[in-house]
Amino acid sequence: MSKIIEISGLSKEYSGRKVVDGLDLEVERGELFGFLGPNGAGKTTTIRILTTLTKPSSGQVLINSTDVAKDPERVKSDFGIVQQHLSLNRDLTIAENLELHARLHHLSPRDRRERISELLDYVELSDYADYLVDDVSGGMKRRAMIARALIHRPKLLFLDEPTVGLDAQTRRRVWDLIRKMSSDGATVFLTTHYIEEAEALCRRVGIIHHGKLIVLGEPLDLRRKLGMIAVEMQTNGNATKYIYFPGRAEASEFIRGLPGTQRVVMRESNLEDVFIELTGQKVLGD
Ligand SMILES: Nc1ncnc2c1ncn2[C@@H]1O[C@H](COP(=O)(O)OP(=O)(O)O)[C@@H](O)[C@H]1O
Ligand SMILES: [Mg+2]
Repeated sequence: MSKIIEISGLSKEYSGRKVVDGLDLEVERGELFGFLGPNGAGKTTTIRILTTLTKPSSGQVLINSTDVAKDPERVKSDFGIVQQHLSLNRDLTIAENLELHARLHHLSPRDRRERISELLDYVELSDYADYLVDDVSGGMKRRAMIARALIHRPKLLFLDEPTVGLDAQTRRRVWDLIRKMSSDGATVFLTTHYIEEAEALCRRVGIIHHGKLIVLGEPLDLRRKLGMIAVEMQTNGNATKYIYFPGRAEASEFIRGLPGTQRVVMRESNLEDVFIELTGQKVLGD
């Protein structure tokens, strides 16, 4: 039994509109999985269903073989969640936020003390334990939310857009933390609309568009299927045309055959190319 998440035929409708549409997906124990898609694709709704906050219109989710809709209390102790929006209590310090959460999970006073100190150390916030939430940076708030989600030692962690709004350097620090949790054995299910985040972190990605999973696989395999090298060309109408080649040699040969006036860019392909090719839209990233 190596699957930790099993999603079948999952749909969610709001006012007759399907925002999650027939999702089938399985995540292996220990995997670092990325759910990539533009804003409004249905990522948060999916996470909300997986974490028992919203009921699906149809379909089924199993976490550790337990049906999430039938036994939400049982699965709740199996996972931790870091929501997309800041969800710390701003009237409390970082340590008090963790303390509150530890009490909700019924940790004993001694276990609470040890666990909070261990986690603050883990996310490198020990020096900020007694700071009020508003007095620390965005990256620190995000790391505090991650620490809070880990309080009850869940083996499965949901991270909804873990680095949204963070600067490049802070984002990398959160990436390091996510890698550390993964190598410490947690299964990580993260959503993102940043291509480079999915490529940098995830062993496997699913791309979601209008509530549908349009492609699933390892980033390198997906790029290989499309072509590892992209050539961008300006068309007469000032639009950009993308052509893909297995390697630089093939791309160079193609470029040599073009009129000398044609302006082209040759570069490595990426997951955004996969997305554009499948949807005809360029909507990922900032
Ligand atoms: N509670 C809700 N009521 C109505 N529509 C919703 C609700 N939650 C989300 N939606 C709609 O569902 C779609 C998917 O939203 P969401 O899951 O938040 O996407 P993402 O996280 O990928 O940006 C959006 O069009 C959003 O407006
Ligand atoms: Mg979202």
